[in-house]
Amino acid sequence: MDEEHSHASVDYESIPNRSNWGEEEAPVVEAINKVVDGGIWLNLAAGDGRFNNNLLARAAKVIAADNDERALNKLLRLAPVELKNRLEIEIFNITAPLPYPDSCFDGCFCTATLYIFEPASVKFMVSEIIRVGRPGSAIIVDFRTDIRRVLPDGTLYIYPEEYSYNMCEGRTLIEQCFAGQSYEISRYEKLPAPRTIGTISYIYESQCLLITARVKK
Ligand SMILES: C[S@@+](CC[C@H](N)C(=O)[O-])C[C@H]1O[C@@H](n2cnc3c(N)ncnc32)[C@H](O)[C@@H]1O
Repeated sequence: MDEEHSHASVDYESIPNRSNWGEEEAPVVEAINKVVDGGIWLNLAAGDGRFNNNLLARAAKVIAADNDERALNKLLRLAPVELKNRLEIEIFNITAPLPYPDSCFDGCFCTATLYIFEPASVKFMVSEIIRVGRPGSAIIVDFRTDIRRVLPDGTLYIYPEEYSYNMCEGRTLIEQCFAGQSYEISRYEKLPAPRTIGTISYIYESQCLLITARVKK
């Protein structure tokens, strides 16, 4: 696990009133508004709440899960009071089997996380997302590729343990993960924007694949 994604490095309270992970991307919000219509949604690696309130506004119930309790505490704090009765938080490791029976969710959402892991883990995590979705349930996930973090001196910062995918590798992996499912992939660009994680500041940019799927079983 690299520093950006590890528990210790992110000071979630350094940006108290919005997510440390930047603005919500418009294509993802559009996908939520198009796809989420009631039901029980699992927000995997939910972080400190980006998109969680969009999900809460449209789902009957959201389980927001992450392995970082501090992130989830902020997510909970940032949830509108009137929607908190629809929200549960759970702490677990998403590289392990999900702690849920088969076919129990109406939707699963996971952004800005799968790309961290090596291909075998990504395949396993997507297989688990499919396993816990009921037939016909929805999946919204994204996958970052071609990530660039430019330090103030112009050099690139590379997190040593992050698996770096280019667009071709990412797309091929996603197509393998969703083979046999009904899915669409769209693509958008995350434009350069400043980001500070822990003690490191840089300009972050990436390409993004956005996948919306319906579970076939
Ligand atoms: C870049 S943040 C993205 C958070 C959120 N999904 C978003 O789009 O803003 C990655 C998140 O993955 C979580 N995470 C990383 N590895 C994890 C693991 N093995 N199990 C559960 N959560 C993990 C981190 O704690 C962090 O909240």
